[in-house]
Order: sequence, then C-alpha cells, then structure tokens
Amino acid sequence: MEPKRLFNPEGDDSLESRRIIGGNSTNIFNLNNVRYQWANKLYRNMMANFWIPEKTDLSSDIEPYKHLTVEERQAYDGILSFLIFLDSIQTNNLSNINDYITAPEVNLLLAIQQYQEAIHSQSYQYVVESIIPTDRRNSIYDKWRTDKVLFERNKYIAQIYQDFIDDPAEKKFAKVLIANYLLEGLYFYNGFNFFYNLASRNLMLGTSEIIRYINRDELTHCVMFEFIVREIRELEADYFSVAEVEEMFRFAVDQEISWTNHIIGDGILGVSEATTEMYTKWLANERWNKLGFGGKLYEGFDKNPYKHLEKLADTEGEGDVKSNFFESTVSAYNQSSVLDGWDDF
Ligand SMILES: [Fe+2]
Ligand SMILES: [Fe+2]
Repeated sequence: MEPKRLFNPEGDDSLESRRIIGGNSTNIFNLNNVRYQWANKLYRNMMANFWIPEKTDLSSDIEPYKHLTVEERQAYDGILSFLIFLDSIQTNNLSNINDYITAPEVNLLLAIQQYQEAIHSQSYQYVVESIIPTDRRNSIYDKWRTDKVLFERNKYIAQIYQDFIDDPAEKKFAKVLIANYLLEGLYFYNGFNFFYNLASRNLMLGTSEIIRYINRDELTHCVMFEFIVREIRELEADYFSVAEVEEMFRFAVDQEISWTNHIIGDGILGVSEATTEMYTKWLANERWNKLGFGGKLYEGFDKNPYKHLEKLADTEGEGDVKSNFFESTVSAYNQSSVLDGWDDF
C-alpha cells in the first residue's frame, strides 16, 4: 500500500469518490460533507467523554493500597504494567494507520483517539506517582521486559504493528486493524474488571474512577475499529481471511486467559479461572459477532459472569458490548455538552 500524499492538489474530496482507504484525498478536513455518518456520531461521543486525570483525587487510595493482600497488590501492579504498554503503543502507532486512511472524517477520529491514548498514558503516571512507593515505580514500567507471559502477549500485538511498518502490504494492514480491534475490545477488560471488583468492596475507589474513564474511551475506540473493518471489508473483502481473523481471535483469547490467570489467578474474591474463561469467551463472542463474520466462536459462552460489575463500570445498559452504543444515555461524568453537528463548531 502507498501512504496518502500529504500535499495533493489533484485530490478529489467529493462524496462519490471518497473512500476510507485507497481514495484520492486532498487531506482537507471538508467536514461539511461527510460520507461515513457513523464517524460524525462517534466524534461527538468521543468529545463528550473528555476528562482530566488530576480531577480525580487519589489520596484516599494510598492507605487501602498498603492493606491490599499480596495477591491483590501483585494484580494491581501487573495490570497497570499491561495497560501502560497497551496505551503507549497505541499512542505511538495510530498515526501509522492514519497515513493510509483517506476519509477526513475518519482521520479526525483517529487523531482524537491518539490524543485520548496519550491522556491514558499520562493518567497511569498520575496513578503510579500518587499510590506506588518510589522504589517500586520503575518496576511497573519495566515489568514487560522481565515477565515472560506479559512479554509474549505484548510482543504478539506489537509485532503485528511492526510488520506492517516494515512492509505495508494490504493483508498486513488488515491484521493491524483486527489487532487494534482486539486490543481495544478484548485485551483491557479482565484488567478493568479487577479494579471494579476492588471498588465493589470499597477499595481503591480513585483508581477505579480513572479506569472507568479509560474504559469509556476504549469502548468508543472499539466501535471505531469495528466500523473501519466493516467498511474496508465492503470495499476489499479479500483483505480479511475469515480463518485468519478467527485464528487471531482465538490466540488473543488464549493469551488474555493465561495472562489473567497468571496475574489474578484464583486468589482474589470474585475472580476464578472459571469466571475468567467464561468472561473472556463471552466477550470474544460479542466482539466477533459485531464484525459480521457470522457464527459463534465459543459455543456455550453466552453469559457475562461479571454483569454485577457493570454498574461500577459506567457501562450499564451497554454491557452487551455497546449494541445500543449510540442510544446510550449521557453519563453524569460528561464534562462537555454534545454537539449537534459540524455546524456547531
Ligand atoms: Fe487507551
Ligand atoms: Fe484505546
């Protein structure tokens, strides 16, 4: 694939010739004419989610952290390490995707996502600095180098991104998109639930609030990649081999389960190896279904064992993975009112 030209006087921005990839964009944000209407709605959702980490007071988490069990503290630190890696790589890689997207309304979303991933990355710094003792902070940032399970799963996703940078072929681009979808839609969630689990016991409430904001953003990113994949499949169906996508899903599920067992295991109230498997496979079924490939990946995994945590996650009513995403009520956390359209700029 060829990256789009930055300066392209011969470009054509008309709606008829606009394409999500392989188009002839001028790179002008001509947003009065939008071909992909979902991008318009998603933009307003993403902007309405604006948040700043420092508005959450973390001082009340300092004492409870000291009184977590050894297993809980290990899980807390380890999940942070994983989230830090994911948000760092997302912040850095999204522009590599955007170089090949030729619809300005979608370029805009990826730019907003990149800035949100930067906020997520900075929010971890705020959590680590507020709660973790000085002598242990670096070990959280470096854990991906020393923990074999963590290294392997980070390597899986990062290598897919790197392969496309080294050789920008169509099929590699398709893999990058699925990897993004899995990262945004599957990878974070056992970790998020761990924090909601602590919050349900009145523990680490500040951290859990930060996680809630991140969770809300990640769901919009997941929806974005769902739409991008669906649009590209309509244009270039053969970029995506169903068997290959299925293999990626199954590999990601296996890694998510083994990592969660490794870092949370059976020792923490409310989480067991059985619920981890139930939850991860249920979630994978939901995500798979949204991409429109048909069928089901995991028979018999039809229930979310952590449904009771949704009220803590601020995703209640959207627990069936945003089936009603655009109808969802505006959360009390929103700090800006939703724009009615591009004219409101
Ligand atoms: Fe993120
Ligand atoms: Fe994200």
